[in-house]
Amino acid sequence: MEPGRASGSLGAVKRFAIRTYGCQMNQHDTEKVSNLLHHAGWRPAAHEGQADLVVVNTCSIRAKAEHRLYSDLGLLGAWKARAPGRLLGVGGCVAQQEGDEILRRFPQVDFVFGTHNVRLVPELVAAAEEGERQVRREEVRSLARFDLPERHPAWAGASPGRAFVTVMEGCDMFCTFCIVPRTRGREISRPADAIAAEVETLARRGVREITLLGQTVNAWGRRQGGGFAALVRGLAAIPGLERIRYTSPHPVFFEEDLVRAHGELPNLCPHVHLPLQSGSDAVLVRMRRRHTADDFRRLVEALRRARPDVALTTDLIVGFPGEGDADFRATLDLVAETRFVDGYSFKYSPRPGTRAADFAGQVPGEVAQARLEALQALLRSLTLAAHRARVGQRTRVLVEGESRRGGQRSGRDPYHRVVNLPASAARPGDLVPVRIVEATPHSLIGEVEVKESARWADERGEEVGPGSRTGSFAA
Ligand code: SAH
Ligand code: SF4
Ligand code: F3S
Repeated sequence: MEPGRASGSLGAVKRFAIRTYGCQMNQHDTEKVSNLLHHAGWRPAAHEGQADLVVVNTCSIRAKAEHRLYSDLGLLGAWKARAPGRLLGVGGCVAQQEGDEILRRFPQVDFVFGTHNVRLVPELVAAAEEGERQVRREEVRSLARFDLPERHPAWAGASPGRAFVTVMEGCDMFCTFCIVPRTRGREISRPADAIAAEVETLARRGVREITLLGQTVNAWGRRQGGGFAALVRGLAAIPGLERIRYTSPHPVFFEEDLVRAHGELPNLCPHVHLPLQSGSDAVLVRMRRRHTADDFRRLVEALRRARPDVALTTDLIVGFPGEGDADFRATLDLVAETRFVDGYSFKYSPRPGTRAADFAGQVPGEVAQARLEALQALLRSLTLAAHRARVGQRTRVLVEGESRRGGQRSGRDPYHRVVNLPASAARPGDLVPVRIVEATPHSLIGEVEVKESARWADERGEEVGPGSRTGSFAA
């Protein structure tokens, strides 16, 4: 056994590190891989220099995200060469698409696993330790891929009070710009009882906030005749659960009952991430989003009627093929009108194999760049205005992390805004009453209301936020 090789020396724990790109689904897959590795006896490394195994969990939503893998693999080749016995794995959306190519082109890679094969990672690692290089990226259309072990006692999520819960995976929408249906495969929903059992276990272990995950999360159960709102209502009744979030809903699956639920369930967070993509009907048709700008307006109005303080965030694409100045202005207008509290905006990136990659009228890079900057300036002003309107309000913050500087804490309020709590005694996982004292462009600054914490603990309904100064619940 070589000296200095942690994995080889008797009794030494083997250490892993994971680099994660992409959406929350990918972050959650990383958690699943991490948990599986815990069950196989591995433990997290403090940093990659200490790791015996590095996994890169990839994203291919835009060309830039995919390219990150290739630059990482260069550096990780050098990492691997520095100590014998090190292992390198690649998973996620690029792995699903390019698996065989990755193994062929990059001799430093030991194994590749696709988006349906997360549960195979311990096997792949064990085989790689024996020198076997393989790719596993077969589609799994059964529920077998959700059959994962319970959270290992030594496994810790990113934040103690919160957890992701997968409710569905895959996407059958085939928006013309999007690679996801090709990387995540067909839509599949987990049974309601399996989801409820997982959430009950989490709540019993002290998790206060869950985020239900799915590529089109509110399409959950549509093939089995089950409604997403009914699922949410069932989960909301689980004792101990203080907050429920979900992401990302697609506007076309937003049933009336889900709108009503926002007015009725005190633990359903008053935040909806509602991707709009474009405010132009002509562009929406070519994107195949299956709704119009007016449909979106009506949905936003209904949500605000049900829950006046609801905070809306969105995703937008500029420079989609054929997008003219008037189309882009329609996007700006609808964004301003909707008063999104925040938004992610992207320049259209043609993805191989998608319909839009072959559309006529590709928009020149500098035009798309100018539109992106204009849109981002608008979004910044909306965020700042929403933040300023919060100053003086009371809310509750679920503390997530400690900043390294002088005991600072940071967490999120029900509206999903980041709230920093300077010099607070609150610990990660605590849900604390806070008064907002300052607005910054990216976050809020709050003070923990120590004296009033007892009173606040049972006055959830008093929280007020972005859309409303009075903060009344519709229920
Ligand atoms: N399932 C989610 C979207 C997931 S992808 C939904 O349907 O809402 C996250 C975001 O990336 C999308 O909402 C879109 O705004 C952006 N995106 C997807 N494909 C893109 C592409 N080819 N170029 C630029 N942005 C893209
Ligand atoms: Fe992509 Fe559209 Fe599916 Fe969202 S709904 S993942 S944008 S294809
Ligand atoms: Fe990226 Fe795959 Fe998510 S492409 S955005 S990691 S579904």
